[in-house]
Order: sequence, then structure tokens, then C-alpha cells
Amino acid sequence: MKLYTTISPLQQALKIEREKGFKIGFVPTMGALHEGHLSLVDQAASMCDIVVVSIFVNPTQFNDTNDLANYPRTLESDRSLLSKHRCEYLFFPTVEEVYPEPDTRIFDFGNLEKVMEGEFRPGHFNGVAQVVSRLFSIVLPDMAFFGRKDFQQLAIIKQLVRHLNLPVEIVPCEIVREVDGLAMSSRNKLLLPEHRACAPLIYKTLREARKLSQIKSVDEVKDFVLEQINASQLLRVEYFEIVDDTTLVPVGSWLQPGIKVGCIAVFAGKIRLIDNIIFNIN
Ligand code: PAF
Repeated sequence: MKLYTTISPLQQALKIEREKGFKIGFVPTMGALHEGHLSLVDQAASMCDIVVVSIFVNPTQFNDTNDLANYPRTLESDRSLLSKHRCEYLFFPTVEEVYPEPDTRIFDFGNLEKVMEGEFRPGHFNGVAQVVSRLFSIVLPDMAFFGRKDFQQLAIIKQLVRHLNLPVEIVPCEIVREVDGLAMSSRNKLLLPEHRACAPLIYKTLREARKLSQIKSVDEVKDFVLEQINASQLLRVEYFEIVDDTTLVPVGSWLQPGIKVGCIAVFAGKIRLIDNIIFNIN
């Protein structure tokens, strides 16, 4: 695995790979890698000739400076994890390399950015779009791999690619969970033991909610989720919304056509966790 911290040598190396006819797969990350990221890397390796991983904690997508300051940075262990998987290139740029000048672009994702994360993390998706579009124009991947855990991010990135007509195929990848059901996240490392112990309640409740959806209305299921999770003194639901999987518009009834996804954000102490579950496929 070759490590690059600057754009130009990486681009030269990738140009040579492209000229050989190799298909380039890209996994953008913010580091603090876990099994979830590694499953994206493996998926990229199974579909592409060359795998590029980036590790860049993107300041423009943090709406909370403490969150940015506390975000785990673990380059050495990330490199050692990646070395056990097929990753040919690791891109680890500085903020100045990615943003030689401030990025003032404002993207418009319509409803996709107004609900859920968009409502509670203003500016977050604009920052994601800024960095992903920059990374795409640096790496010029054929395919890019994103986890379904960040469900709304995935919808935003698909729309970004459509709007900018970028020649990259977005490949959604399944959520990877701990044995107790907690969705893997770099933020799990920051949980205090007591919060880590009760965090599996999130996915347990989502599974119960899915069962309940056979017999209860959308509103009743939403109330159930809020009550169950908030009953644990250590967890606090920020939002739970049941939305259409492409428009992200909240659904009012199970009878509406389309796939419905329950998306949740929960504070476990100071740490914010997100998760989601597909309710039904019509
Ligand atoms: O999902 C993430 O880790 C980040 O939002 C991404 C896509 C790497 C952009 O910084």
C-alpha cells in the first residue's frame, strides 16, 4: 500500500493505473477505521482492480467544533488495518491540500438535506458534498463505496453525482454491526462504558418497531421507538423518522407505495449515534 499526502503524485500514479485499463474503486473515509470501513474496502477490492482509500477528517462537514476536535484520529492503527486488506493507495492529505482556498460552494439538495440530519446538523451535507466532489475530482474513481448506515448521506451523494454528471458509480454497502447489534461507527470508540452498554437498545428497538409495523400505525410505531429508547436514562432520541427511501419525505401510512426506512439519531451522553432499518418492501 502506497501512502500519498499530496494530490499531484497520487494523480500521476492513478493515471498510470488507468492507462493500464485498471478499474479504480474509491473508499472515502474520515479514518478511525473499523470493520464497517473494511467491508467497504473488501467490496471495492471485489469489484475493482485498484483500491484507493482516503482518510481525511473534513472540517467543512462538522457543525460542532468540539465534535471536530474530538473526532478520533488513529492513522497508525488505520494503516495497519488496511495492510491486511487489498488497498493499493492510501490518500492522507492535510486540510490545506484539500482546501487551498475556502470552499464557498453551496449545493441545493432540496428535501434531501432539509430533514433528519439536515435539520439537526445545519451545513453538514453541504460540507460532505464539498469534500466528496473534491475527492472524486482528485481520484477520478470508476466506482465509490458508501455505507448504508449513513443513509441520508448516501441519498445526497447519489444526487450530487446525478446533478454534476460525474462518471462514477455509487455502490451502497450493508451496515456492519457489533455482535450485540450496535451499528459500527468511529464514534463508538468515544462512548463511555455505561453508554456503550445500553447503545445496543437502539437497534433492538428498531427491530421491534419493524415487527410492530405489521399491526400498528406509523405514528404508533414512532411513539413506541421514542418511549423505548428514552426510557433508558442514558440515551436520548434526537429524531426518529420513517421516510421514503428515495425522497426521504416522512411517510404517514404503511399503505403508501415505496420502500420505507426508519432513521434514528440518539445521544448516548455526548456522543451522537445514528442507525436505520428498512421497514418493508412493497
Ligand atoms: O462518511 C464519512 O465518513 C464522510 O462523511 C465522508 C463520506 C468520508 C466525507 O468526509
